[in-house]
Amino acid sequence: MTPGQQKPGTHLKIEFLEAEVTFEGRTALHPLKLDLTGRRVGIIGLNGSGKTTFARLINGLTKPTKGSVSVNGRDTVTEAEAVNADAGFVFQSPQNQIILPILKDDIELGLKARGVAKADLAARTEEALSRLGIAHLAKRRAHELSGGELQLAALATVLATRPSLVILDEPTNQLDLQNRRRVAETIDALNEDVIAISHDLTVLASFERVLLFHDGRVVGDGPADDVIHQYEAMNR
Ligand SMILES: Nc1ncnc2c1ncn2[C@@H]1O[C@H](COP(=O)(O)OP(=O)(O)OP(=O)(O)O)[C@@H](O)[C@H]1O
Ligand SMILES: [Mg+2]
Repeated sequence: MTPGQQKPGTHLKIEFLEAEVTFEGRTALHPLKLDLTGRRVGIIGLNGSGKTTFARLINGLTKPTKGSVSVNGRDTVTEAEAVNADAGFVFQSPQNQIILPILKDDIELGLKARGVAKADLAARTEEALSRLGIAHLAKRRAHELSGGELQLAALATVLATRPSLVILDEPTNQLDLQNRRRVAETIDALNEDVIAISHDLTVLASFERVLLFHDGRVVGDGPADDVIHQYEAMNR
């Protein structure tokens, strides 16, 4: 079966309704009203501008201090479990993604938690690892993997669960040229909707919509070329 539960042409609808996030009195995200329905949405902006905070709101990892966020009409706080099953999140630090010592066991744990039958666990795990060219890492200890291997492994753990939406927080930051290309191609080939934060502007070049964050606000929103150009002009 091809990954992704979405029918071609249908997309999740994500709505930010004046969502705001403050941490200890400091505003990380100013009240934001925004609809996202695209197949590929990219996010750029300087360090600390609010990109991760924005992305974490989408699957309820961070709760809005004020306002709300919904995915297909389901509130990310009050219906967190349903939202979470739809949206897979690949963390900026991949060591936060993998809990069990052995990679294969970790992926299987995630699948079991989503009700995948025991008989299918091995094949689903193998498929997710092969898709990223890392089947040979299945029985390795996660803490012994190199930074790039761990990043690919973290992506595999999420893809294995076949979410409708994949949220990627800097998926290529530790990767070499070959693996950057591999991850970029994997992202391009996904049937799932994708929201990707990246400082690697080549990853986002083919995205239909890119948001530019600055000081906790969306200051740019449009096709990749235009918004990347705006970002470069702001930081010249
Ligand atoms: N859990 C937290 N507690 C306190 N402050 C936080 C927390 N998470 C984020 N912040 C602060 O909120 C602001 C936005 O952080 P965020 O992680 O969203 O930035 P970012 O755009 O993803 O940056 P980077 O490119 O460095 O990953 C920063 O000033 C950060 O220090
Ligand atoms: Mg971040």
